[in-house]
Amino acid sequence: MWDYTEKVMDLFYNPKHQGVIEATDEPGLKIVTGEIGSIACGDALRLHLKIDESTNIILDARFQTFGCASAIASSSALTEMIIGMTVEEAMKITNRQIAEYLGGLPEEKMHCSVMGQEALEAAISSYKGIPIVVHEEDESAL
Ligand code: FES
Ligand code: FES
Repeated sequence: MWDYTEKVMDLFYNPKHQGVIEATDEPGLKIVTGEIGSIACGDALRLHLKIDESTNIILDARFQTFGCASAIASSSALTEMIIGMTVEEAMKITNRQIAEYLGGLPEEKMHCSVMGQEALEAAISSYKGIPIVVHEEDESAL
């Protein structure tokens, strides 16, 4: 058994913001999805964001994952962190900050938090209509 923090276990058993975001015709709102697969474990993560286009504020974030307990906890933590942030603020979040929010992750499980960060990057790229850029740090963490 991995040595998980209480926060990881709590978010694993009671994940926040799991699922999808309903489509909306409301003007000024954009829903985007970022999808990422991990080379290290073969799992996948999909992150959905609802963004207010006039302020760039993330109004809602939901995730779906086939990942492990750490991936569920990391994704859940990420959604809690980014709701209410602007896209610019969210772009600065690193996978280390996700792990810190959880009170730490076992070293072998750090890549589960990288998936969260990469899915966020993919979703924001899709929002901005720019190609996905993967950080060098992410590569080394895999
Ligand atoms: Fe699927 Fe372990 S690889 S549960
Ligand atoms: Fe694959 Fe965590 S998502 S080990």
